[in-house]
Amino acid sequence: MHICYIIAMQAEAQPFIDAFHVKEQEGAFAPLPCRLYQTEAEVGKKLSIVTLGRQHDRDLVGCEAASVATLAAIEKLHPDLVINSGTCGAWARKGADIGKVYVADSVMFHDRRVPGDDAWDTQGLGNYPVWEHSGEVARKLSLETGKVTTGSSLDLQPCDEVIIEREGGELKDMEGAAVAFVCSLAGVPVMLIKSVTDLCDASASTLETFQKNLYQASEHLAEVNRKVVGLLLS
Ligand code: ADE
Repeated sequence: MHICYIIAMQAEAQPFIDAFHVKEQEGAFAPLPCRLYQTEAEVGKKLSIVTLGRQHDRDLVGCEAASVATLAAIEKLHPDLVINSGTCGAWARKGADIGKVYVADSVMFHDRRVPGDDAWDTQGLGNYPVWEHSGEVARKLSLETGKVTTGSSLDLQPCDEVIIEREGGELKDMEGAAVAFVCSLAGVPVMLIKSVTDLCDASASTLETFQKNLYQASEHLAEVNRKVVGLLLS
């Protein structure tokens, strides 16, 4: 099995990259900014990690960069499974806590509205399938599952919250549905594993809380991802 992780930021990926001693394949996606890290080829087992790269003096985040990286990875690497892993916002009143790691049981967009046309509105929200064994992985690793909703902004606008509440969203990110969208087109299964950096129902600034908790959440994520790889590639 070949697993390809799509991880937006270097800080989110680094503890995982360090744990597996994967090597960067310099220029693998040139001229695209996404970066590839791979294990030495072992018969029947391979781990690739793709990060989104940088632009405008920051790591790329968001749906466009995630879509570009996912398509480039699928076309170049032909993985059997894509895993989008990274940080997210969540709600304390729904049981979330900083550093808690979840597996997605479903994924959709929350900020693509087409009022007046039900079919386009449905297309906008997406609701893509996740890998059929996602629940089994969560159970085996004693992780909770939840619905990921994706938007292009870190902040939470009231019109997005209406959709998130209506649809039962529990984990808010900026890449998951974009990765799942590309995987749905390419026919590649996708699993999402997310670690909480900030609580959407707390009064503190989202960006400051995100930055403060990024290291801890990424360490927890790497611990879980080591177990996921152990489970799937053993
Ligand atoms: N990634 C981490 N926290 C997030 C949030 N609150 N919204 C979107 N993406 C995030």
